[in-house]
Amino acid sequence: MSRLISFIVLLLTGRLTTDGAGSGLISKGWVATVQPIATQAGLEALKSGGNAVDAAIACALTLGVVDGHNSGIGGGCFMTLRLADGRVVTLDGRETAPARATKDMFLRDGKVEARISQDGALAVGIPGEMATLAYASRRFGRLPLRQLLEAAAQVADRGFAIDRQYANRLHSTRDQLASFPESAAIFIQGLPHNPKEGDRLRQADLAHSYRALATNGIDWFYKGTFAHDVGTWMKSHGGSVTAADFASYEMVSREPVRGTYRGYEIVSFPPPSSGGVHVIQILNLLEGFNLRAMGDSSADFVHVVTEAMKLAFADRAKWLGDPDFAPVPRGLLRKEYAGELAQRIRLDRASVVTEAGHPPQAETDVFSREQKRHTTHFSTADLEGNWVACTASLNTSFGSKVVVPGTGILLNNHMDDFSAQAGVPNYFGLVGGEANAIEARKRPLSSMSPTLVLKNGRPILSVGAAGGPTIISQTLLVILRTLDFGQSPREALAGIRFHHQWKPNELHVEKTLGKGVIKELQKRGHPLVVEDSLGAAQAVGLDAQGQLIGAADPRGQGSAAGL
Ligand code: GLY
Repeated sequence: MSRLISFIVLLLTGRLTTDGAGSGLISKGWVATVQPIATQAGLEALKSGGNAVDAAIACALTLGVVDGHNSGIGGGCFMTLRLADGRVVTLDGRETAPARATKDMFLRDGKVEARISQDGALAVGIPGEMATLAYASRRFGRLPLRQLLEAAAQVADRGFAIDRQYANRLHSTRDQLASFPESAAIFIQGLPHNPKEGDRLRQADLAHSYRALATNGIDWFYKGTFAHDVGTWMKSHGGSVTAADFASYEMVSREPVRGTYRGYEIVSFPPPSSGGVHVIQILNLLEGFNLRAMGDSSADFVHVVTEAMKLAFADRAKWLGDPDFAPVPRGLLRKEYAGELAQRIRLDRASVVTEAGHPPQAETDVFSREQKRHTTHFSTADLEGNWVACTASLNTSFGSKVVVPGTGILLNNHMDDFSAQAGVPNYFGLVGGEANAIEARKRPLSSMSPTLVLKNGRPILSVGAAGGPTIISQTLLVILRTLDFGQSPREALAGIRFHHQWKPNELHVEKTLGKGVIKELQKRGHPLVVEDSLGAAQAVGLDAQGQLIGAADPRGQGSAAGL
């Protein structure tokens, strides 16, 4: 009887999954992704005895099939893990530039030619997602990787009904995909003429590649057939990636960046992501303001957070890059530095930020190895205390648009995340300098921010987002809404979003922001750009009773489910 009462209570309070993706009184774990088939794959991993790490790997491999325009094993990822024994691990599977990459490889007649950094052979960096998944599986998972690869291969073989977003992306990239015969065969000829939501996409070659990995192990990708095939294709298509680049790829286990905010611990991804550094820096900048009193959709709240974003993004443009190649100051994370910068924030008007700040000991205290809506984020957690935040990406839609024949694997275009020329914006309008200039084997700067929030050493939130530099703003806003306003993951994800990245001087706001607030922001001097919607974030956190609960961004067609 008491079980029946608790069942009813759980159902009424929304703690029992009701979307058919999994239900039961015992919460083994939660999964949140942008695509219900991938969420289901994560749940299946939990059901068959896996932990949150296995669930995250299942999600990643399945997203590569059903959401392949955003992420896949031809791209990279960052994974932040909090393990049941309390350790926090950050795995850097970011792409690297090929050994033959040069600083001016995207310049033609002295000018950046964006087309070649975004589409085709030169856009491709050496992918790191597969190395990361294999490492995470070996070290922290419980299920054999081959089981998860086979499950995803079956989805690729069987095919799946594309969703609205997939259909839209096919339309917007059709002309570029058409330039690459193998990609055209899969993504254009493999679907009806005018593809729409519900049409079925099968990917037999991708299934074959997953099975080759299951049978031959990770060497098939980095040292075997796949690396060789990519090298051969690159040679005849003007690329610079070689099989040797694949053989020398290294996933790097890095020290997470850590900060505190109102008594909570924030653990996030270090450089070459700018995400963790700037989420923490912005939280530091905001700690002295009473955000709760402002209200989470007020002009004061949007104004103050925007001012903090501008200061942080100015620093990003100057200081951030791959820490193995450029000195990235640790001082960016210091509370004293944030306190100094915060003095520039005025409540009555938008400031003009002309240049980056100068963090303390910028030249000597640096990170080192020893210590537009693309991309995808997923979060998982289990009852044992394993929590994962993982953001994965090919960069822009369908990455470089290149599929090397017979492999079914889309290759990324993350070379565009480098600063091709100082001060010249990349696809996302981001500018950068020397710290993010192209160099052989260097990793391009990222904004991906897979973040965990802990209280007294125990995780309470796993969060991250997709969407280039807006990833930082979205992740930040979910954290603020959770910690300052006590919102549930679902409420925090639904809250109004806004983003400012210093350059261009534009404050992007969602159209649901009140008209009065928009007017007030304009009065304070913010140049506004009103967007239909901004970004795609996913989160797993705790409900009011301290039980695991996940949420997918209501702006998309994703799902969250628990078991
Ligand atoms: N490609 C998006 C990022 O890594 O920031």
